[in-house]
Parts: sequence; C-alpha cells; structure tokens
Amino acid sequence: MCGIVAYVGTKEAYPIIIKGLKRLEYRGYDSAGVALIRNNELQSFKKQGKVSNLEEFASDADTSGSIGIGHTRWATHGAPNDTNAHPHGSESGDIAIIHNGIIENYDSIKQELLRKGYTFKSDTDTEVLCYLIEDIQKNTGVKLGESVRLALQQVHGAYAIVVMSKNEPDKLIAARKSSPLVVGIGHDGDFYLASDATPIVEYTKKVVYMEDEEIALLRPGEDMKLYSIDDVEKTPYVQELEMNLEVLEKGGYDHFMLKEIHEQPRSIEDCFRGRLNATDAWVSLGGIKDYEQKMMNANRIIMVACGTSWHACLVGEYLFEDLARINVEVEYASEFRYRNPIIDENDIVIAVSQSGETADTLAALELAKSKGATILGVCNVVGSSISRITDAGSYTHAGPEIGVASTKAFTAQVTVLTLMALSLAKKKGTVSDSKFRNLISELEAIPAKVQRVLEKNSKIEYISEQYKDADNALYLGRGSSFPVALEGALKLKEISYIHAEGYPAAEMKHGPIALIDEAMPVFVIATKGTSYEKVVSNIQEVKARKGKIIAIVTEGDEQVTAIADHVIEIPETDEHLVPLLATIPLQLLSYHIAVMRECNVDQPRNLAKSVTVE
Ligand code: AGP
Repeated sequence: MCGIVAYVGTKEAYPIIIKGLKRLEYRGYDSAGVALIRNNELQSFKKQGKVSNLEEFASDADTSGSIGIGHTRWATHGAPNDTNAHPHGSESGDIAIIHNGIIENYDSIKQELLRKGYTFKSDTDTEVLCYLIEDIQKNTGVKLGESVRLALQQVHGAYAIVVMSKNEPDKLIAARKSSPLVVGIGHDGDFYLASDATPIVEYTKKVVYMEDEEIALLRPGEDMKLYSIDDVEKTPYVQELEMNLEVLEKGGYDHFMLKEIHEQPRSIEDCFRGRLNATDAWVSLGGIKDYEQKMMNANRIIMVACGTSWHACLVGEYLFEDLARINVEVEYASEFRYRNPIIDENDIVIAVSQSGETADTLAALELAKSKGATILGVCNVVGSSISRITDAGSYTHAGPEIGVASTKAFTAQVTVLTLMALSLAKKKGTVSDSKFRNLISELEAIPAKVQRVLEKNSKIEYISEQYKDADNALYLGRGSSFPVALEGALKLKEISYIHAEGYPAAEMKHGPIALIDEAMPVFVIATKGTSYEKVVSNIQEVKARKGKIIAIVTEGDEQVTAIADHVIEIPETDEHLVPLLATIPLQLLSYHIAVMRECNVDQPRNLAKSVTVE
C-alpha cells in the first residue's frame, strides 16, 4: 500500500499535500515526494524516509503553486531510495504521476519503450506508466486525459493514480482499479484527492469514492468529469462523510488490528497476484526462480524465524514436506544462532519475517551465510535488512502492518510458503497435474472464503464474551492446524494477557489434560481431513472432564457440532489450505476478548512491533 494525495484549486497545494501525506504514513513510509506546477513549470521534491525527511529536504525551496501531487511509498518494485520515490516523471519531465498499486505487465511495456529509445531513471513500474502516457501523447497528439485512458487500457494490475502535465497546468487526471481513491469536492471549486478520506475530511465532507476503471478529470471551478476506461461518461456519486478523522485513519475500524484482520481477503490476493494462474496451471515466484533447482537438490531446507513468523514456518514445513517431499527443519532463530548448528554450502536457510528487522532472525541468517549456506527471505518490508542480506526472496505484499499483533502478515507468509511448495512440487513432479490445478484453484478461492469467515464476526464476538474472563486457555490442532493452534494461543496471550498454550491435539493426554476443568476453554481446530476422527476423540476427552470446547469446523459439520459448546464454521477447502481459513476466527476471538478486557489492542504492554534487540 502507498499513500497518495493531490490538490488543485485556489489554495497553496504544498501544505495541504504534506499534511495529507502525514495522515497516510500508516500506508507506507519508505520514501515521500511532491510535484508542483508553478508558472507552467513542473518541479518535484523526493526523499527516502518519512514525510518529515521530505519537508526538511524542501524547507529552503520555493514550494508555491496551487496544483500538486504527493506520495508516501510502500515499496513493491525497486528498493526504497530517492530515485524510486514518487512522483515519477515522463522522459521529457513535462508529466508527473503518483501511483498506489502494482502494474503486473510493466516489464513488457518497458521493453517496448526501451526499443523505442526511451531511457529510464528508476526501477519502478510507475515510471513506465508515465512514459507510456507521454509516448501516446507524442504519437497521437491527444490531451492528457485521453492519453491516460489509452495507456490504462494497456495496463494489467492494480492502480490508483493522479497525473498532471505542465502543458495542461490547470487540471488533474485521476484513475483507479483495485486500489482506493477518493475525490474531495472543495467549497471553493477546488478538488482534493487521496487514498482514503483522512487527508480530505478537514477541508470538505463531500466526497466521491471512485470505482474500478473510472477516470476523473478535475479542473478548478468546473464540475468533476467522470469517465469509464471505455470513454463512457458517468455521473459522480457524491457522498457526505460522517466519520471523524480518528476513526477514518483506521479505515472506520476501532483498531488497526481489526482493520488488518479485515484486509486479509485483499492482502492474500495481493500476495498471489501475478504469481499463480489456475487456468494455465502455473505458479511463479520470480524472486526465487534462480534458486528453485538448488532448493530441490538441497539436503534440507532450514526455516528460521520468531513468534508468529515461526508459526508460519511450521505450516510451511508441512507443505514443503507433503507436497514437494523436501526435508524441512524449523528453528527458533534465537536458538539456532547460539546452538553452533551444523550448516554447510548444501543447505538452504529461509528466514521469514514481517519487519525484516528482527535481530535474532537477522543474526541467524548471518551465521548461516558465514557457513556457506544459501540464504533466502520471505519479508513484508521491501528493502528491510533481511531482504537486503539474503541471496534472494519473495515479498509478502501485505502492506504495512501497524498492529503489534501480526495477522495479515501471517496469512501472507503462509501464502508465499504455499506458493513456494507448489512451485517446487510441480518442478519435482511430486504432485499430479490434477492435484496441482486443484490446489491453485482452491488458493485463488481463499480470499472470498476468508471474507465469508469474517462475516461470522458477530457470532465470534458472542463466543468471546463467554470466555473473556478465563485465566487460561488451551488451543489444539493436528497436522498443519497445530501451528494454527500455536498462533491462536499467541494472539490471545499477547493482546488479552490471558495465559494460553497451543498443543498438538494428541499431546493433550501426555500432560495438559490434567489442566482440564469447567474453567478451561479449549479451542480446537476440528476441520474435515486426515485426522478428523482423532480430533473428535480428543474433544470427547475434554468434554469428559467438563472442559469447554470452542471448535473451528468445516461448514456443514454435524459430529463436532453435536458435542462442542460452540462451533465456528469455515468454508471447505483443500486440507493444505485450512491454516489460511482456520486462523481468522482465532484472530477475531483474541481481538474481541482483548477489547472486552479493555486491553491496548494495537500496542499491547511490553511488546514492540519489531524486536530489533536481542
Ligand atoms: C506476533 O503477533 C508478534 N508481534 C511477534 O511474535 C512477531 O511475530 C515476531 O516478533 C517476529 O517478527 P517479524 O515477523 O517481524 O520477524
């Protein structure tokens, strides 16, 4: 996710844009930039880091002008640096663009423009789009709005863009597809644009939420013009904003954690966007393509991580071993780095980390590298330390995760590890073509199924009410649902401060069953699959000791539903993909219990979002 802000009207654009970018820094803060047009000249200011860095950089410059565009970046293509910061310009510098999203076919467009003799300054997909717009204008003579429309007809992917040109200095052109874009209708005939309403609400409450494949032409003093990408004029639907600023920053949710839980249909889709195709039956992770042969031939793959990311690795272990038949060892990074592990050049070490800055994980990687292993990364923050020291890797594209308790990053990490396992399995021939196709189709269907689970929020909130005063809780699962049980327990612990333990369901009889009484809620992942009957037996063992059972079951389940105290149904999916769905109710349960216990959900006591110290 990136944050975009733009203004055209009678006021000074720069202060409006800077203030708006600061409100959007939760969407990304790798770099920031502003472009302004003044006296028919277009000038850009761009700086790596937060918006305050940009302000300091431009503090002595002339930043006057009543039309401008601004951007705070969450890098997806190209490392976070001044060159890759937005706004990007066309080759002539006459046109400037800001963009939130991912252009999947940017490379093919870039190759075509390179063949035409263009030379690029950055590594970004956004600059390619700006060059394409100018190339169309040069070849057809059309105005900016039409050249943007024609360019977008060639683009595959997600975008929210604002474009301006020094040759048409009184207008902004905006367009969106899959990424959000809001137009604010000012009181003085001026216009505001932003990724969400937070930078706009203090100036006007009259907004238009643009729809997919709509293009807006905004000229001060005139009505907003709205067109479809097929050049059909549309009537803008103007709404009156009711939310206040504080609520808006969380997208209308009470906490960033809840917002991020509900973002998961999109973040999982963003994670596999352009990386799988069910119709043509392929999976492709460009970042590790050159290392897949080595991964297939490795004696073993070691995954190192901490916390939630370590749980994602445990899911990955089941997937890599069952699908690709590759031996995987999962290690706590903090233990691995001090255990004098036996590592050599035949080993592959994969670090999984949302922040890419966790000290123990970084140190574990450095140790593996020093012993000659190949090191790969699965990170959410582009340009983070772990992503920079690894030989290769795959980004999770979950967007900034502000809540300390990791939610959407976990499901994105599991998605990437699933894609890796599928890609390796296909190359090794360890899964049949029909199973491969079925798994890809099922993975493509996961975002919609996650949405269906999220719609059970009220029931989950009701169940949370029953157990908010518990002192302890047990989480049970088998197979790849065992890591989900661990993750559910960690979520409850870290935000509600209730002691909770995750266990393999079969292990209960080796000790924890002594804890079971009527005060002990036991959360069990009991979805249909290989060990279903065994889990039913474990549930009956708990019930025999008056324990309370809250079961995550497959839609339509009758057997567990008949014996559990509460059930939360999730849609049926392939057993390998159950972790992506079973996690959601456990995230919501921990969230609601924490809220009911009046805990600080987004910043739990004693915790930090990124543990950069040992
Ligand atoms: C998870 O909810 C916690 N915030 C914590 O366990 C976290 O997963 C761990 O610190 C690892 O962080 P990383 O993914 O950024 O490396």
